[in-house]
Amino acid sequence: MDQYRVFGNPIAQSKSPFIHQQFAQQSQLRLNYERELVPVDKFESAVNNLVANQGKGANVTAPFKEQAFVLCDQLSERAKLAGAVNTLSFVNGTIIGDTTDGVGLVSDLLRHQIQLHEGKILLLGAGGAAKGVVQALLAQAPKSLTIANRTLSKAQAITKQYPNSNINAVTFTDTEHQTFDVIINATSAGLTGASLPISDQTIKNALACYDMVYGKTPTAFLQQATSLGVKQVVDGLGMLVGQAAASFQLWTGINPDVEPVLASLRAELT
Ligand code: ATR
Repeated sequence: MDQYRVFGNPIAQSKSPFIHQQFAQQSQLRLNYERELVPVDKFESAVNNLVANQGKGANVTAPFKEQAFVLCDQLSERAKLAGAVNTLSFVNGTIIGDTTDGVGLVSDLLRHQIQLHEGKILLLGAGGAAKGVVQALLAQAPKSLTIANRTLSKAQAITKQYPNSNINAVTFTDTEHQTFDVIINATSAGLTGASLPISDQTIKNALACYDMVYGKTPTAFLQQATSLGVKQVVDGLGMLVGQAAASFQLWTGINPDVEPVLASLRAELT
């Protein structure tokens, strides 16, 4: 049977096996997808071991996305721009790397009818999570994409990758008197419980706020947005399922139905 893995450390929390098994069932495909805890210095041997044992593909999560990028024989253009890989495909002994985080995010935003085309988008953060979604956001032809980060130079490094796009890098303070249609949180501040240095007024003016993080309770950013009356407030569970769907399609050619899988995961969370 074709073998798939999600490699990470830690990995016990990963919902990817459940998601891919659901996709496989929908498509009447027989495959085995499991999580694998990889010691931080053993990523390459874990990949080689899978390739040697009927491996067809793998997802890669923290802290291995950059190591995966280095290991690949071939890379998609979007993986090159992201500098990271979350999807490995093994084809005739070649390791092909791609990143589906950006399309996962965009597909979830569009599923919620959040308009990106001609919209003014504010992306908070300039770490790996932010870098991984910039290309997909720009592909929607927004009016502008502004990246705000505590460390301005990191946001500037991303904008330099897209010289012909309407993209700019700012500090959080710079966002104070600007209006955005959509605000996307890609910082890790929510994970530590730290609040974001973004003004109430900026949040209030947004039509939609999205947090790439999800949990049993709404994230601090989403709670803030809700209390300020933002109409659409969405967490990152749909992005998780969306990126998985895009990986599944790369491996099998089948575009799975995300809705029932998302509904099960949501029910499990509440
Ligand atoms: P990830 O892979 O999750 O993106 P990362 O690469 O470490 O993780 O990036 C974390 C991001 O969250 C960065 O943009 C970071 O800002 P800096 O580049 O200035 O470090 C941002 N971040 C983390 N904690 C934050 C906080 N308390 N306030 C604002 N931004 C924060």
